[in-house]
Amino acid sequence: MGTEARIEELRALREEALHAGTQRAVARQHEAGKLTARERIEVLLDKDSFNEIDQFVRHQSSGFGIEDKKPLGDAVVTGHGTIDGRPVFLFAEDFTVFGGSLGEVVADKICKILDLALNTGTPVIGLKDSGGARIQEGVSSLDGYGRIFERNVRASGVIPQISVIMGPCAGGAVYSPALTDFVFQVDQTSHMFITGPDVIKTVTGEEVTMEELGGAFTHASKSGVTHFVYPNGSETLEAVRYLMSFLPQNNMEMAPYYASGDRADRYDDHLDALIPDAPTQPYDMKTVISTVLDNEEFFEVSEHWAKNIVIGFGRLDGHTVGVVANQPAVLAGTLDIEASEKAARFVRFCDAFNIPLLTFVDVPGFLPGVGQEHGGIIRHGAKLLYAYCEATVPRLTVITRKAYGGAYLVMNARGVRADLVFAWPSAEIAVMGAQGAVNIIHRRELGEADDPEGRRVELIADYERRFNNPYVAAELGLVDEVIEPRETRFKLIRALEVLRNKRETMPPKKHGNGPL
Ligand code: HXC
Repeated sequence: MGTEARIEELRALREEALHAGTQRAVARQHEAGKLTARERIEVLLDKDSFNEIDQFVRHQSSGFGIEDKKPLGDAVVTGHGTIDGRPVFLFAEDFTVFGGSLGEVVADKICKILDLALNTGTPVIGLKDSGGARIQEGVSSLDGYGRIFERNVRASGVIPQISVIMGPCAGGAVYSPALTDFVFQVDQTSHMFITGPDVIKTVTGEEVTMEELGGAFTHASKSGVTHFVYPNGSETLEAVRYLMSFLPQNNMEMAPYYASGDRADRYDDHLDALIPDAPTQPYDMKTVISTVLDNEEFFEVSEHWAKNIVIGFGRLDGHTVGVVANQPAVLAGTLDIEASEKAARFVRFCDAFNIPLLTFVDVPGFLPGVGQEHGGIIRHGAKLLYAYCEATVPRLTVITRKAYGGAYLVMNARGVRADLVFAWPSAEIAVMGAQGAVNIIHRRELGEADDPEGRRVELIADYERRFNNPYVAAELGLVDEVIEPRETRFKLIRALEVLRNKRETMPPKKHGNGPL
């Protein structure tokens, strides 16, 4: 065969690989409101940047008639490309080939991508749309998942790993996304569960739809498995691109710098009037967060779950920061089991990837309740405490109002080695609220008083005057600076500048033993 004929042969094979799924399967995919694997890659990556790897891989299995069907590339499209000019590795499960099911060579292809990503310090993105373990290939499919999980864990904390659920993702297959840093789900067309509605009905008698059990909003609001939900595939993939703009390539690099055009010394007068006079009246902490960040741009993570704590990314003077903030507008901003878990994992992500932490505090304490105690708030609250204590990235805290008791410490207080702590004049830093404190320390006096209610009001006023302010903490150096709310952005930017070269290391150890 001459060279020209050989090139023609290659072109024909390439063309064949582009159409590994039948026309019928592609039509069904579109009818279901889903993009194909290759269409998704086009939306995700910069134009014409995709380089495919393993396009000609075919399975070697036999039995159940599978030996008669050997599509080129099998059920996953893999390779690398760029997002905003920065390299990423990716794999996209192809539902139009064997339902995207994972057989031995599919696992081989995905493992190759994970190895390349890890060895080159490049983020990896997995687009998931699969019927799970390939039934015809039996235990070698299961082994394939094992090999993927192990690589996900090996890469954890070294390169950002993102999972995008764009179709079914069931059984043990869900554990790869669960091991990665961020999970996106497409509304209505994606589902995740360990056991499906039919099995659940047989075992427990419960009736539940696919959507209620494992749809995007279920996981974004109830289980916390999913961080981001968007209405369709394209918007979801655009959001992945956006998330990438906040992240470094790996744990040895810093996140990219984006000149914001927003003045570092912008003063925000409306913040001065934000805190209500009544201590129990809520306000929206997201106003504070977005006001302070560059161009008021805040990319919230896990927006629909544990809304009493707010987490997400933004920039200060062009540099990525990870924000953690109590939300007084929900459950009075108390910390509960879910809020602790949500914030803890985020703090660990930021610390692993050199993203400074910015914490806004307005917390009256942990949420009281038998359910919380028996659910293990001690164990779960400790996760957030552990995560902060372990974090060696620059850590800034702004106390806007309440910072009471143990929750004060958990929210990155000086005692747990915050680098710089700012407080607004409205800050109240105390062991507990005035009411509770007076009831305890003056119990006997109040029991013996002629006018207990009148005396209680006096004692509360006295306690508030003495402790409900930032100055006791400032006198002790536990607050570094009491600032006017409108100065917050400027102060934080200056603080980050001076902390940029912070170098802190934990004592050598194999790993800690945090309360997971
Ligand atoms: C082989 C599979 C497959 C699988 C789907 N297909 N799942 N082939 N192994 N696991 C094939 C179908 O035979 C069909 O082939 C094509 O993919 C499309 O599937 P349909 O059923 O026609 O599509 P749809 O109606 O959209 O239903 C999608 C589905 C359903 C809900 C995912 O296919 C399904 O329930 N599949 C089985 C899911 C499952 O139980 N997987 C094992 C989970 S356990 P043709 O040739 O007809 O187009 C697991 C363990 C992992 O994954 C353990 C890790 C530790």
